[in-house]
Amino acid sequence: MGMIYLLDTANLEQIKKAFEFYPMSGVTTNPTIISKENRNFLDILKEIREVIGEDKMLHVQALGATAEEIVKEAEYLSQAIGGNLYIKIPVIPEGIKAMMILKQKGMKITATAIFTAQQALMAAVAGADFVAPYVNRIDNISGSGVDVVAQIVQLFENYALDAKVLAASFKNVQQVQEVALAGGHSVTVNAEIMDALLTHPLTDWSVNQFITDWEKVYGAKKLTYDVK
Ligand code: E4P
Repeated sequence: MGMIYLLDTANLEQIKKAFEFYPMSGVTTNPTIISKENRNFLDILKEIREVIGEDKMLHVQALGATAEEIVKEAEYLSQAIGGNLYIKIPVIPEGIKAMMILKQKGMKITATAIFTAQQALMAAVAGADFVAPYVNRIDNISGSGVDVVAQIVQLFENYALDAKVLAASFKNVQQVQEVALAGGHSVTVNAEIMDALLTHPLTDWSVNQFITDWEKVYGAKKLTYDVK
């Protein structure tokens, strides 16, 4: 299956660009990310769905403080947005309760705001399809986000759980690299990091050199110059 790349943004221009150029599997949002767009949230989500199509994953976070509210929000979002939708639910007790209820109803769940492997394990047992450890936020409190990812991967193996790690909260490419080496199944990154994953000055230099060498001999003629 390979690495699953998701874009952590609600910005339509960034989403269009990433989906045009990169092998994206979906988009993740959270209330902070949506609020940055500063307009009607349902319009934003519907437009994202339109851009990425019905089949790509769209992860949208519930805001309710009780399981009852979270379930209500999940059903509302499912009606309003549709397609391949994942409801993001924080790993608080009411959230775990909501996950169990929504699982019964056949909805897809991403457990979020994860800082420890035990939170991820319980969420997966409760029915989460993805669990989202916040790598950079863990690093920022002198923990190791990558270690938490590695532990979750190991626990899911130990208990033969199908849930996948959706590592989140990245600030640099090295964190993504280490998460990938640790067996993280998927990452959600912002547009800047998505670009940075591919960028290397020597790649650009090499590409320019190929063109320069070609043009010295063939001038402006393209590789396809004799294609009729
Ligand atoms: C993940 O679910 C969150 O949306 C996000 O990745 C958190 O990232 P941040 O720590 O950069 O806010």
